[in-house]
Amino acid sequence: IQKVPLFSQLNADQLNALAQICTRRSYKGNTILFAEKDAGSVFYMVLSGSVKIYTASHTGEEKILSICKAGESFGELSLIDGKPRSASAQTLEDCLLLSLTTHNFLELLRSHFDIALGIMQELSSRLRDTNQHVHDLTFLDARTRVIKSLITLANKHGLRSGTMITIKLMLNFDEISQLAGVQKAALMQVIRDLEEKAILTISPSEFKLDLAKLR
Ligand code: CMP
Repeated sequence: IQKVPLFSQLNADQLNALAQICTRRSYKGNTILFAEKDAGSVFYMVLSGSVKIYTASHTGEEKILSICKAGESFGELSLIDGKPRSASAQTLEDCLLLSLTTHNFLELLRSHFDIALGIMQELSSRLRDTNQHVHDLTFLDARTRVIKSLITLANKHGLRSGTMITIKLMLNFDEISQLAGVQKAALMQVIRDLEEKAILTISPSEFKLDLAKLR
């Protein structure tokens, strides 16, 4: 719990009290935690692994809105406004998650202003990211969107060594195209081009990016 940034201001006693009301559970990769439009009753924090937040069309096409990694949280919106889940959540790999019920989550916000402020900061950051994505979808071409998405993925999920960044592959090509908001064919064209220029190397478990060259 100490490692969750949202709780960084709590002292040892407060962390112990919190530990009593949180549920800690591991989930296999590809587990659907909840679906868009479900009633929401649980707030989640990621201790390890990663979770994709996505929305789907009537025909089943998906659009990834965000990927939560260790230390991040999700599922607060429906607990705050009482409306159905605004998106679906699915583990991308084996995950360890902490969860809180609606009652305990709202009590925590009422009793700790720092935590309420942390949630507000998280919501502000998501709104900024969403505005940026709307901007990119409106004004950038597909190739630039793919490159921006790869840079964002590398910065958030990659391990840096000099100008090279290694990202352990938790996403397949369908999911990367959903994240960038491009058709898969457009994604594959950019990937082939980057591979030919030795900017990108893909192996079964990871991909490596030369960030300086990509920029
Ligand atoms: P909730 O609506 O309860 O369930 C889905 C969760 O996905 C939502 O709470 C947020 O925590 C998260 N979420 C929804 N939309 C976005 C977005 N655009 N970016 C990041 N996270 C989101």
